[in-house]
Amino acid sequence: MSEYVRMNNEYLKVKVDVLVIGAGAAGLRAALAAHDRGREVVIVTKRARADAHTVMAAGGINAVLGTLDPEDTWEIHFADTLQDGYFINNPLAVEIMAQEAPQALQELVEWGCKFARTNEGLLDQRFFGAHTYRRTCYAGDYTGREIINTLLKHIEQTSVKIQENVHITKLLIQGDHCFGALAIDSLTGERILYLADSTILAAGGYTRLWQMSTSRHAENVGDGIYLALQAGCEIADMEFVQFHPTGMTSPDHMAGTLVTEAVRGEGGRLHNQNGERFMSRYDLARMELSTRDQVALANYTEIMEGRGGPNGGVYLDITHLSEETILEKIPVVHRTFLEALGLDISKKPMEVSPTAHYTMGGVVVDPETLSTNVMGLFAVGEVSTGLHGANRLGGNSLTETIVFGRRAGESAAENSRTNGSSSLPTRVLHASLEELDTLSIQGKEDTSILFNALRNVMWTHCGVIRDGSGLQLGLEKVIELKEVINRSGVNPTEVGNLRLSSALDLNAATCAAEATIHAAIERKESRGAHRRSDYPFMDSNMRLSIVLRQNDLGTLDVSRRQTPNMPERLRPWIKEDFDLDLRNRLLE
Ligand code: FUM
Repeated sequence: MSEYVRMNNEYLKVKVDVLVIGAGAAGLRAALAAHDRGREVVIVTKRARADAHTVMAAGGINAVLGTLDPEDTWEIHFADTLQDGYFINNPLAVEIMAQEAPQALQELVEWGCKFARTNEGLLDQRFFGAHTYRRTCYAGDYTGREIINTLLKHIEQTSVKIQENVHITKLLIQGDHCFGALAIDSLTGERILYLADSTILAAGGYTRLWQMSTSRHAENVGDGIYLALQAGCEIADMEFVQFHPTGMTSPDHMAGTLVTEAVRGEGGRLHNQNGERFMSRYDLARMELSTRDQVALANYTEIMEGRGGPNGGVYLDITHLSEETILEKIPVVHRTFLEALGLDISKKPMEVSPTAHYTMGGVVVDPETLSTNVMGLFAVGEVSTGLHGANRLGGNSLTETIVFGRRAGESAAENSRTNGSSSLPTRVLHASLEELDTLSIQGKEDTSILFNALRNVMWTHCGVIRDGSGLQLGLEKVIELKEVINRSGVNPTEVGNLRLSSALDLNAATCAAEATIHAAIERKESRGAHRRSDYPFMDSNMRLSIVLRQNDLGTLDVSRRQTPNMPERLRPWIKEDFDLDLRNRLLE
């Protein structure tokens, strides 16, 4: 049973079976699964409940249904995902996703999710980049929002509680065991102690660290990575940062905003300012529907070599489609360009450029249970790693949230049932509360200026194309920033304790940035989303993960770990010579 007690007016104590950190689709689906297994569940979120980053996931969710392409099978979905993840993925995670996606999607439909239908009433499926067949279900170009709304409606019929404006500052760890988390209410500043048998980290990724990003303010700042590292978790694959090929280039305050892959899925064409449909030089077979890493690199190259438009982008053209089709299939993109720039995309092309969109790196988990190396702590969704490898296929992240969300919730419930009796030693609790007190620093440095500086460093030194000396310089700059951050001002203002929340975000962001650069330095090859100009080719000896862990001195230990072996049963689906194909493509 959950229990709420205000302790001597000092802090609020919440005791619960399962604590879920994050209210995106992965967190919500996990909470429902834990609740269905008879557990009391509390979800905490920094933002408003229906405003998690999932609402920004636009174009679709993958599951092999064969609506339009009956030849499609889960084995082909498995092979596409693994091959275009450049074999860094955990094959077992990929197998689970591909096999369980149809059932997980059907469940959403039963709960009222309104995906687009064909004239015959079947679930429609669109093309997405590098998928052999059409397997991306969608709701216009607001699929993530539709899924979040569906999950929230379902949660409203349960006893699961959602607490907003809660900023988790620390996971409560004793030995190798997690007992919950400490938090502040970012409006009132109240301290909150969550004691939980199981804690599920579903706090998102770290794409907001780059100047151009599809993430909004205070979202995907790497706080999940920070919490996990402090807790003693292993993290891996941090160097693999997906730059979506098409983000808005203007107006300034909207630069980086996602222009969904659905535009290309529905037939959108890319051209440079000379009018050349340049993808024919990068991937003639797949053109605009090549993998995201290839299309992003192509766009970036065109722009850097001077063939971009006035706002530093290339052109994405959908004007050959009727206005009616555009309004049906990509209404949000249509409205966004009209409102922001007065541009009607049914008449004129959009100007777009690469933008940080998804981070493949994160907390190392067991793909079946989503457990981490810390007992009682689970991680799911973008904060975790293993499924996507070096490059994620569009549409697979929403699938990940519901397939692995359910698994994480069930594992957390099971852990609560069997190991729920242990309790946190009082001295650890007191030490943690004292630590929270020290967070009210009255410094002078402005957090938003510092955050901007960090985003510039990451864009310049650890962007679409990197090299060793640039990465080293970037690392030094991040470490310098860390020093300054200790002097940032976090005193309460007219916006409550939101500045404290920003300072905590900034601290977490520098930690995630440092981990990313360390991993990028260590991977001396180009693979998927990690492109190094000083190591332009893929190295078959690097079919492994870069693993990071915080040591007792608070610095990072870097090691290498072989990617899990491919089970024999899955081998027949993979092309033997695929590595070579990729190498040749990179050499071209
Ligand atoms: O472009 C998009 O709609 C993004 C989808 C995804 O990242 O899966």
